[in-house]
Amino acid sequence: MHMDLEKQIAQFKNVEACVVFQSGFAANAGTVSAILGKEDLVISDELNHASIIDGCRLSRATIKVFKHKDTADCERVLQETKDWPGKKLLITDGVFSMDGDIANLPALCDLAEKYNCIMMVDDAHSSGVLGKNGRGTVDHLNCHGRVDIQVGTLSKAVGSIGGYVCGSADLIHFLYQRARPFLFSTSHPPAVTATCQAAFELLDSEAGEKLIKKLWANTKFFKRKLKKLGFNTGHSETPITPIMVGDAGKAFQFSRELFDEGVFAGAIGFPTVAEGKARLRTIVIATHKRADLERAADTIARVGKKLGVIS
Ligand SMILES: Cc1ncc(COP(=O)(O)O)c(C=O)c1O
Repeated sequence: MHMDLEKQIAQFKNVEACVVFQSGFAANAGTVSAILGKEDLVISDELNHASIIDGCRLSRATIKVFKHKDTADCERVLQETKDWPGKKLLITDGVFSMDGDIANLPALCDLAEKYNCIMMVDDAHSSGVLGKNGRGTVDHLNCHGRVDIQVGTLSKAVGSIGGYVCGSADLIHFLYQRARPFLFSTSHPPAVTATCQAAFELLDSEAGEKLIKKLWANTKFFKRKLKKLGFNTGHSETPITPIMVGDAGKAFQFSRELFDEGVFAGAIGFPTVAEGKARLRTIVIATHKRADLERAADTIARVGKKLGVIS
């Protein structure tokens, strides 16, 4: 059953093979730490997810960080390390989890090809959201065949739990033997696997395409509302829409008061985001009704005014 899910995901993503891990965190950390060693180099966006950062640390490779989405800064690092004797991994989130912005994947693929790097993307927040039937950023940004390793999670749009890695058959066989969270920890029970299989069947259908359209219509509607109300929603380009607050105490109070009024918007502060950049993290889903979104926006406006987030 587990292997049927892996085949299904590989087919969906149009790659040779796939391995399913217990979580997206385990997929990133287990993959990076398996493919790199202390003689290798990783070039990583500064806002990459913690599971990538931990995988890099576990690998004992040298870590070089480039400024968020700054391809010129990424190239500066690659120039400085162009004669690196070991393997080089260029790694980015496809959609950044706290800001909702999208990686400049075509430009990063150009750099990976120019400087002979392995290219890896964590598509946790774009699986089921971007690309045809939610195939992710590689499909959305037309980078087919240019990304060696695509990671995704089964815990967000897919609605269950787990993570997966897609790539060549050689890569996946290597991970079966060397990725420690896969080897040394129990896999999902059948109910989880069956849920994921059903979710991919749905995604890859007309009904799935309709749900994704609805998700984007809801996203655009809600973002427009928040902006019109005067909230700063940062650089988001996806359903993850932050409401910037700045002060962490105020962000947590904002979240608590909203919850008391029936609206869930989690507060995020340091160390998940930088100090002084605390925010609420709102996310709409495909099955929200317009009335739900109107009510949420009205409540956010009322509490936001009371706390002085908007005037
Ligand atoms: C970008 C990103 N990658 C990986 C993960 C980890 O996924 P999971 O929750 O399935 O462990 C998350 C979030 O939790 C994430 O936001």
